[in-house]
Amino acid sequence: MSTSFFGKYIVPEAAALRNSDSYRTIPPVDDGAAREVLYSGTRLLNLASNNYLGLSSHPELIEASAKGLARHGCSSGASRLITGNFALAETLEAELATFKYQEAALVTGSGYAANLAVFSALADRRTVVFSDHLNHASIIDGILLSRARLVRYRHLDMAHLERLLTREAMVEKKIIVTDTVFSMDGDVAPLARLVELGKAHGALIVVDEAHAMGVLGRGRGLAAALGLSDDVDVHVGTLSKALGSLGGYVAGRVETIELLRNRGRSFIFSTALPPAVLAASLAALRHIKSNHGLGARLMRLSKEVRDHLNSLGFDTMGSTTQIIPVACGRNRVALHAQALLRAEGLLVAAVRPPTVPQGSARLRLSLRADLTDDDVKRIRLGFSRLRVSFFP
Ligand SMILES: Cc1ncc(COP(=O)(O)O)c(C=O)c1O
Repeated sequence: MSTSFFGKYIVPEAAALRNSDSYRTIPPVDDGAAREVLYSGTRLLNLASNNYLGLSSHPELIEASAKGLARHGCSSGASRLITGNFALAETLEAELATFKYQEAALVTGSGYAANLAVFSALADRRTVVFSDHLNHASIIDGILLSRARLVRYRHLDMAHLERLLTREAMVEKKIIVTDTVFSMDGDVAPLARLVELGKAHGALIVVDEAHAMGVLGRGRGLAAALGLSDDVDVHVGTLSKALGSLGGYVAGRVETIELLRNRGRSFIFSTALPPAVLAASLAALRHIKSNHGLGARLMRLSKEVRDHLNSLGFDTMGSTTQIIPVACGRNRVALHAQALLRAEGLLVAAVRPPTVPQGSARLRLSLRADLTDDDVKRIRLGFSRLRVSFFP
């Protein structure tokens, strides 16, 4: 070990971080995806996980996963290009493609890896990528990996995007990318206008449906909800949130998926998902197909909670979905509010920079379709009590 590097850079940087209010630790939570979790021995209602439909512990997923495990063991052994396929991967991809109204799909190790695969396969130095300012970090990392030029437009601002597209009119290879539901704000991209702009400027359109998959459009996502599935070129998503499993996917035209399979670095240079995980994802997808009212129930429940928070005076920013931020501003305020809610039996994330812009720390509630009426009452009561200290 280079002791001079360690002593000169790592030790002081770690100390400075530890003394700041943006220091992060992993919360002492057992069973983090469940509806109720144990937090240092106390039972809390879980409003921090992205297990939006509560599927991670559903018997259909567990049974499918157990069978996959018993039949194929714990690991896939290597990258699929090296060892070959499990039939499960191909079945999952075929069913995902059909579900998303696309020709083909590719499953990756995570949603993060899916975005890395998309940009490393489809973009290069000659490409300009127009990206919403609040897009997920995996999109930004994918663009950096591709060496394309990143141009960020103001969050949801289609007039700004149009100006930037016009400014870059001479560039041949253009991609527009957006989250459909934004992970820290719970608001939704203006996809119809974005598609119009993309078409007018000859840009490829990539959407990341990580937080919409399983929820909007009878589980198919925002593009499907708006009837825009054919207008979006590349549909990215994750199997790790509403689907209660692990992995990412990309769906689109056959040729797009061929390029990803051959050039997507995170797909090529990483071990494939284990069969037990693929089996769980397949069971989740089939469950969502035959229970397509789950997302609508979640939306109704989210509106009820959001309306209550607004009536108490909390600012839920632009949220219209199951992700409900509560604006706090300073980090300390968010951490304090989080601790007060914990005392009310609610586990809520306190999100701070750099995950969100400086000065915009917030609580982030992610609601889930398996909440009971009593759970909703607990949430209403917890925030009513928080209000007393929040707005003294
Ligand atoms: C918009 C978006 N894309 C991709 C990801 C990454 O997905 P995964 O957790 O499956 O890696 C996330 C995760 O938070 C996300 O919010």
